[in-house]
Amino acid sequence: MIAIGADHGGFALKEEVKKHLDEKNIPYKDFGTYSGEAVDYPVIAKQVGTAVAQGEAQCGILVCGTGIGMSIAANKIKGIRAACCSDTFSARFTKMHNDTNVLCFGGRVLGTGLALDIVDAYLDAAFEGGRHEKRVNMIMELEND
Ligand code: RB5
Repeated sequence: MIAIGADHGGFALKEEVKKHLDEKNIPYKDFGTYSGEAVDYPVIAKQVGTAVAQGEAQCGILVCGTGIGMSIAANKIKGIRAACCSDTFSARFTKMHNDTNVLCFGGRVLGTGLALDIVDAYLDAAFEGGRHEKRVNMIMELEND
């Protein structure tokens, strides 16, 4: 299951992502927001990040205006590795090399077509492990500093 969320800046694109996941029969849980009314993105980032960190969701997708606020907020949650991506290469490699568990992007940055390609690139990629595992472990150790 994918945990998905957005603020008002990402609401419209989140709805497009949901349609895309529906077409691919990929299950998700929508943590809001549910309209274009202004909300505070850290609230949504916390809900999605917590669902991922606690194992309720296998990964998360967060959309705000830029994708940056969501990624900063999600990365504050223990166990979360969130990446803000605006291209498919980064989306693929952040899964392969960083084992990221939350993908973020900007509803005011990307068109729908590119955003959905980014979602596919991210979901279709797998963590490579090997030499990257040690580095990811080093990242996670930073949570204990
Ligand atoms: C909201 O106006 C905007 O600040 C938010 O969507 C996001 O871009 C923050 O990083």
